Amino acid sequence: MRMIICTGNAGKLREIRTRLPEGFEAITLVDAGLPADLPEDGDTLEANALQKARYAFERTELPCLADDSGLEVRALGGRPGPLSARYAGEPRDDEANMALLLRELTGAADRAARFRTVLAWVTPAEARLFEGTVEGSIALTRRGSSGFGYDPLFVPTGEARTFAEMQLHEKQAVSHRARAMNHWLAYLLGR
Ligand code: IMP
Repeated sequence: MRMIICTGNAGKLREIRTRLPEGFEAITLVDAGLPADLPEDGDTLEANALQKARYAFERTELPCLADDSGLEVRALGGRPGPLSARYAGEPRDDEANMALLLRELTGAADRAARFRTVLAWVTPAEARLFEGTVEGSIALTRRGSSGFGYDPLFVPTGEARTFAEMQLHEKQAVSHRARAMNHWLAYLLGR
């Protein structure tokens, strides 16, 4: 099946691509002649994922999979949530986002956090959403150099290492995105 992975984020693209089963030919937005950064004006991960997948589907008629993810920090009342990418303002800047997060959590006893991914799957036949979450906490300092985004600060529950200190297959065993992919694959493959 030929499909589009609707993200311009190289980290997301890699994590989604490595989980695709045989027989799936996934192209990128740029391969499809679309902008790498699609509009996302919604207030929720669900609205943003659907907006991105619909945008690409309406222009290509190919099945489209879009990912919108957010970091929900308990001591911050669930922020930055859907605003995670631009937490520290424009332009998007992972380093500035992590610096702001550490600043906001200075002295906080509760560092619990959750990553959530919503995948939108839009085809000629349907539009469906799949969700995955991982519970964890925010480290006191950045650690590790793999992954992307907030990975140097996120420690999944039951682990001592941040996502950025893990190998890709270790992150994939527990991550929000991999869990959302599991639901999507189970639906698609009828398992
Ligand atoms: P968006 O889904 O592209 O809007 O991304 C939301 C924000 O969360 C961006 O700052 C991403 O870098 C970050 N993000 C999304 N997924 C992950 C992840 O798996 N690990 C770390 N950061 C992530």
